[in-house]
Amino acid sequence: MLIIGCSHGRHLAANVAKKLKKPYSELKVKKFPDGELHIRFLKNVKGNTVVLVQSFYGSINDNVMEALFAAYTAKDLGAKKIILAAPYFPYLRQDERFKSGECVSVEVMAKLVDNAFNGIFIIDPHLHREKDLRHIFRIKSKKLTANNLIADFIKKNYNVKNCLIAGPDWESYKWAEKVANIVNCDSVILEKKRLSGRKVIVKLSKKIDLRGKNVIIIDDMISTGNTIIETIKNLKKLGARKFNVIAVHGIFAENALNKLKKASAKVVTTNTIPNKAARIDVSSVIAESLKDS
Ligand code: R5P
Repeated sequence: MLIIGCSHGRHLAANVAKKLKKPYSELKVKKFPDGELHIRFLKNVKGNTVVLVQSFYGSINDNVMEALFAAYTAKDLGAKKIILAAPYFPYLRQDERFKSGECVSVEVMAKLVDNAFNGIFIIDPHLHREKDLRHIFRIKSKKLTANNLIADFIKKNYNVKNCLIAGPDWESYKWAEKVANIVNCDSVILEKKRLSGRKVIVKLSKKIDLRGKNVIIIDDMISTGNTIIETIKNLKKLGARKFNVIAVHGIFAENALNKLKKASAKVVTTNTIPNKAARIDVSSVIAESLKDS
């Protein structure tokens, strides 16, 4: 097995290789003045199971092209198997044609990935109506989770005796409720209505007393931060004053991390996407998932 760090996977790939005691190499990526990409493997991939570690954030579309170019090149160079280890995988949220003429992006991504790779592993993918990755991809897929790492972080850093874990919308139970069960504390799930990419309404259907509680809001991702900010506004009305926020994927679009700080949120994320709040290392989750590949 050869672990390859693509341009947005290097912060994890070297550690993954170390944990597995497997060789590591970086994918050399250059951009031409017109925006075209040039990629090159620096180690011989022939006969190997090649694991491409690539997280899809920031220049997402370049990241996609780079991973596809790398997969086809590895195949061409004689790799035995090509696996995409994606700490954060994009384009999963548009899983239906809500308005006529729209692209169902998840289906297009699935076709591209199925044709280029033999397997795909994703950490905490954002699955709405699709319950599992095997309903999306035809190739071998594994849904990985950082929930145990988040629970460990909470146990080490927060007072769990007097804590309440809150999830901002029904889907967040997969993180908020699951982590609450591991650390053995109460949880509550709020209701969210999304009005646009930047506007959400978050409500709590029952009244609870949060005075003196250590509230930890957990969600899979933070993009504009508005979901968390609205959740905090609601929970403040119930007496909560201090908020710890944990997300798996810290996208932090449009200066979201600063906005969250102003809203009295202390934010921590995993390092699926490198950012200033990333304090939970997920390389062990990726390494573990590759052991039987
Ligand atoms: C959506 O359902 C996700 O779980 C997140 O709650 C959402 O993507 C966060 O987006 P934003 O930070 O822009 O509110």
